[in-house]
Amino acid sequence: MCGIVGYIGHRKASDIILSGLEKLEYRGYDSCGICFLDDLSHDFVMYKDKGRVRHLIDDFDYSMSNHLGIGHTRWATHGKPNQINSHPHFSWNQRFALVHNGVIENYKELIAKYLPNADFVSETDTEVIATLIEHFSNTLSVEEAIRKTLSLIEGSYALLILDTQHPEFIYAAKNKSPLLIGVGEKGVTLASDVMALVGNADKYMPIEDKTFTVVEKTEDSYQYRLCDIIGSPVEESFMEMNIVLEEIGKAGYSHYMLKEICEQPSVVRKIISKYMNDDVFSIDPKALSIVQNAKRIYIIAAGTSMHAGYVGKYYFENIAKVPAEVFIASEFAYNMPLLVENCAFVFISQSGETADLRACLVNVKALGYPTLTITNVPTSTLAREADAFLEIFAGPEIAVASTKAYVGQVAILLVVAYVMAKKKPFDLHHELSRVAVAMEAIIDKREYVHSLVGEKLTKRNCFYIGRGLDYYTCLEAALKLKEISYIQTEGFAAGELKHGTIALIEDGVPVIAIISQHAINNNTRANIREVHSRGAEVLVISLNNVSELTDEIVLMDVHESLSPMVTVIPTQLISFYSALDLGKDIDKPRNLAKSVTVE
Ligand code: F6R
Repeated sequence: MCGIVGYIGHRKASDIILSGLEKLEYRGYDSCGICFLDDLSHDFVMYKDKGRVRHLIDDFDYSMSNHLGIGHTRWATHGKPNQINSHPHFSWNQRFALVHNGVIENYKELIAKYLPNADFVSETDTEVIATLIEHFSNTLSVEEAIRKTLSLIEGSYALLILDTQHPEFIYAAKNKSPLLIGVGEKGVTLASDVMALVGNADKYMPIEDKTFTVVEKTEDSYQYRLCDIIGSPVEESFMEMNIVLEEIGKAGYSHYMLKEICEQPSVVRKIISKYMNDDVFSIDPKALSIVQNAKRIYIIAAGTSMHAGYVGKYYFENIAKVPAEVFIASEFAYNMPLLVENCAFVFISQSGETADLRACLVNVKALGYPTLTITNVPTSTLAREADAFLEIFAGPEIAVASTKAYVGQVAILLVVAYVMAKKKPFDLHHELSRVAVAMEAIIDKREYVHSLVGEKLTKRNCFYIGRGLDYYTCLEAALKLKEISYIQTEGFAAGELKHGTIALIEDGVPVIAIISQHAINNNTRANIREVHSRGAEVLVISLNNVSELTDEIVLMDVHESLSPMVTVIPTQLISFYSALDLGKDIDKPRNLAKSVTVE
């Protein structure tokens, strides 16, 4: 989703902003732009258009020296992706230039009340913020005009603002949308994602909601100030920058997605090392007390993380013996079910920034329920705002389609349920280690999986079928295939097919079946026969001890409860190679964003 980068200091701002925007490309976007102060002419220069950051970089005039600027990648919400709607936006009389992530809900009311005669160029809500600031700056100081505007706008925003009349300042503010400040020896970078700070900052800090930040470049240095909406200073809590550039490169792989699929065994091993001390698994006591004291656990998540949540429900119920329910965040936010007393909420989010989850978190916190976030980003909003959080340690996930974060989430949910369990059902260290080995075995055979894709996935549609835990993997497998290959795919509970969907099965339709559980082997095999006899092109993924000779992908045996972490790997490879063969933009699928910060 939209990305923001701003820089002020003694290095060339445009270099830092353009490379920062490239690092944010993975979040998904459709247009981009940059605005900076040309040191020589003292003019503000703007480049922006629909399309890739690469076009911006190719068209850029690198002869201009500059030390202050703002940039943006836009994922369209108000108005089409085109040059005019791209950010940055100028205010009506071009005094202020501004980039914005988020959605302003009351912009029409603000126009009617304060700017009835303004002539807007774009269809965006952002231009209204810029023009409101300009409007108030006729009678107030710049800082007062910005703070007044912030007090009026409703919705989500991360903003960077330049004032053409005071070109030594960048102003920043945020509410609900993420924004971080990174401080280095030579300057200050502001960005919506820590990735854009890597290489530019020695320390960084997520800016809190309703915080207003002013960064000033002085003759030989710079200074920054963080204050609340009425101008009182807010406490600073900087962290050391511990991400290195190499971690976010492709490390020789053709695509981030393939790299991240191949990293999954190390994610599982890292989780073992982070959560096991002296041969015993443990989690943060605060996180443990939240789930341990609950009579029922409500899991809130979206997309892939919600699929991890289904497996988590199985772990809470079957290992920890606590009932659990899974809810789609965007539904729960506005349609809360009747809750039982003494419940707890678990939020699962790779990014920790998903707006649908945040809306639920705010609601359940207001009702006084205990909350735990499971995330890959410890500095994220959901990690900071829940009562406790657990990190999945998957490392930066750049491909839009989530792979290693999913496996990390499932593994952490398992660890949590295992730590909660009074009676330990197996040796978790041993079983998780086997999972890592089984993952490696199928990753090593990825070219074989590629060859199957060419033979079987030749249609516009595809079905995944399975039962129990395998059904949850089918849901995730179907999402992964459709989002990057655009092949219409559905995941079905195998027994449910004959209640309607089997009508879609005809000659050559690919049906991929997943079987990892003894108890349902015969039932799923019966469903395979049903679709096969109606012409389906069947491909079976099974664990060795439930496999049959004709199964195409046979995986190393692992404990049945842990199988979702292994059976998902060939499905990720199937998605990757299908998209590759179809020539799709695998790491940045159309219309999608890595971090979905609007509801
Ligand atoms: C799909 C995918 C999405 C995310 C969803 C929630 O590959 O990545 O479905 O899982 O947008 O995002 P997070 O986990 O960041 O809350």
